[in-house]
Amino acid sequence: MKRSIIITGGAGFIGSHVVRLFVEKYPDYRIICLDSLTYAGNLANLKDLEDKPNFKFVKMDICDFDSVYTLMQLEKVDGIIHLAAESHVDRSIKDPFTFAKTNVLGTLSLLQAAKASWEPHQYVMPESGVACRFHHISTDEVYGALELTRPDGVEPPFSTKASSGSHHLAYGEDFFTEDRSYQPHRPYSAAKASSDHFVRAFHDTYGLPVVVTNCSNNYGPYQFPEKLIPLFINNIRLRRPLPVYGRGENVRDWLYVEDHARAIDLVFHKGKDAETYNIGGFNEWKNIDVIKLLIATVDRQLGRPEGADLDLITFVTDRAGHDMRYAIDSRKLQRELGWEPSLQFEEGIDRTVRWYLSNQDWLDNVTSGNYQSYYDEMYGNR
Ligand code: NAD
Ligand code: DAU
Repeated sequence: MKRSIIITGGAGFIGSHVVRLFVEKYPDYRIICLDSLTYAGNLANLKDLEDKPNFKFVKMDICDFDSVYTLMQLEKVDGIIHLAAESHVDRSIKDPFTFAKTNVLGTLSLLQAAKASWEPHQYVMPESGVACRFHHISTDEVYGALELTRPDGVEPPFSTKASSGSHHLAYGEDFFTEDRSYQPHRPYSAAKASSDHFVRAFHDTYGLPVVVTNCSNNYGPYQFPEKLIPLFINNIRLRRPLPVYGRGENVRDWLYVEDHARAIDLVFHKGKDAETYNIGGFNEWKNIDVIKLLIATVDRQLGRPEGADLDLITFVTDRAGHDMRYAIDSRKLQRELGWEPSLQFEEGIDRTVRWYLSNQDWLDNVTSGNYQSYYDEMYGNR
């Protein structure tokens, strides 16, 4: 095998797409999916890869330094793409400690294992001559929140920043660039920010070869239905209330998950050492507009009359300290590595809704918790 790479969190939403892309695109790489299978990890997300000769699943906690280090030695690992994390903002408000443990201490444990494995041979694999790399996957939320500065009554787009390609919607003049200072507001983003700092500190202190990417909101197949888009698709299909936080005025910049996976592939292979690359869709939407689009799309695909489910919209108490607007400036990635989002949002939503409606067993298994016995069925005591 040409390379041996650990992808952490590969049984989760984004991780499963990254694992799939790497397993299929690089048959001469050994791809090891390392995941502890928390409530968010689901082996059904990787079912189509089970029999691929270059794929291996290992159930392991990133906080377990000894096991990670041993695995790296056994498998002669030369790259880590690190996605494992607690990822849901609402859970972090209820239970910040778990977020500090996984996102901060778990990342530190992986960094230590990478350093201990690679430093003795100056971060180049002795037999293959491959340069080692630690790619840390982070979020736009570390930069804090932006204001809505769109003048009243003017519908977007009123500002364009992307060079070409996707929608150029913007609800303000200000964007997150890579040199923006960190200002996390939620326990989730505080823990992610802390992990980003540790990654950079390991580069600056020990010379660990690292690269960091900060991405905006992802959507697409296999996302756990606690996040806005899959939760609302599921609720619309079952005609359940749609709990819109506050007035639904908050803005997020949405990116189709496969576009994120492509960006990770590019940065892992071609990004410059110790650099940060922002990844985003230049595709800002107010939550309420996303929700109306979801209702229209689900209703159309299920053959329900137009607008039939608009009455499911239910305004509820806002998320504590709800960040108003996230907007990523990803021109560096476009300029330096030639990446661009590939899908218009309406097309991506159409595809996403179609996937969830065609995979209602997956949704039912996840919402009932049945999927958590899947590991025992597949792997038993191995
Ligand atoms: P997810 O919650 O769907 O998946 C997380 C995965 O990590 C799960 O499979 C879980 O089992 C695993 N995991 C959790 N704790 C672990 C531990 N201690 N040891 C091993 N595995 C563990 O998350 P996601 O939405 O796919 O996000 C993946 C990464 O991308 C995260 O680091 C997140 O911060 C980042 N990110 C997510 C988004 C987004 O919109 N979802 C956007 C930008 C960045
Ligand atoms: O910006 C990147 C981040 O995007 C990632 O780092 C996180 O891991 C990911 O969870 C996501 O965070 P958000 O908080 O933006 O995503 P979420 O899907 O939870 O919410 C999107 C918006 O919808 C947000 O403004 C809150 C709102 N919302 C969410 C839920 C779950 C609702 O109005 N009602 C809901 O029930």
